[in-house]
Amino acid sequence: MEKIAVIGSYVADIMARTPHIPALGETVKGSFFRIGAGGKGFNQAIAAAKSGNIPLFVTKIGDDHFGAMALQMLQENGIDPADSIVDPAEDTGIALISVDEQSGQNEIIVVPGASGTFTKKDTAKIAACLAGFSYLLVQLEINIEATLDLVEQAKEMCIKTILNPAPVQEIPDSLYKGLFLISPNEVEAQQLSGLPYRSDADCTPIAEFFFSKGVQNVVITLGKRGAYLNTGKDEYFIDNYKVPVVDTTGAGDAFNGGLLSGLSKGMDLVNAFNYANVVANLSITKTGTSNAMPNKQDIDRFLLEHAIVL
Ligand code: RIB
Ligand code: NA
Repeated sequence: MEKIAVIGSYVADIMARTPHIPALGETVKGSFFRIGAGGKGFNQAIAAAKSGNIPLFVTKIGDDHFGAMALQMLQENGIDPADSIVDPAEDTGIALISVDEQSGQNEIIVVPGASGTFTKKDTAKIAACLAGFSYLLVQLEINIEATLDLVEQAKEMCIKTILNPAPVQEIPDSLYKGLFLISPNEVEAQQLSGLPYRSDADCTPIAEFFFSKGVQNVVITLGKRGAYLNTGKDEYFIDNYKVPVVDTTGAGDAFNGGLLSGLSKGMDLVNAFNYANVVANLSITKTGTSNAMPNKQDIDRFLLEHAIVL
């Protein structure tokens, strides 16, 4: 198995399920409340670990109760908690999440807290550990300078870098150049490219936008529609499976963690893409984010039941 790293955010997910997402000024009685371990980086690392390849994972947390939740869950999933940076001067980040009970769709406000304070010293220390790694997976939830710095160093070390550009923000050209893969959802893809997504046919020009910036492969996760892969040579669409949709929060993270894990197990990109889709589909059948990531047995059973050979 190849060595993989995920560097990114951890935040505590403060989540309520509600009959509908409140409008501005409206109060709605929710039906379920839970505080869970989340953050895009953390969720993606847990998804990879549970599917069978434990990544190096580094995040930044405060010295507080929410931070302790992260350390415990990392430990439970075989990821070394000692790699994470505890900064007593910062509070652990949080996300306020509303989940619509009918559709399983969500709305999120994320306050990265400590996760938004990676310094040059932090990234230098992380980069020094990356020698010998095959893949690095990053997002845009930590401070952008840190992501830029890490990706630049990873590229110099010839580590294949995957960028999940979420939450979306403007990206300098230097970040795109030489990326192994970018994996926006359809909203992020439109914002980054300035091109519309109305139907399948619109995926090609969006992918071409990313290719023109120097990205090697493009995945667009398309919510209910499934997902799209363009390798520069070939294009693929994959449908979702018919699974009960309970909570779609973290589905993109499940996809990215699954993709990374599939690649590190030696799958080619098309198979890893299919594998990622299975991991994402399983994740939406459960409430929550990192805790909803399927384990290897769940995934293998699903592959068998659906006669999927990867
Ligand atoms: O992608 C889902 C994640 O985004 C949640 O866990 C929440 O923490 C937000 O950062
Ligand atoms: Na979920």
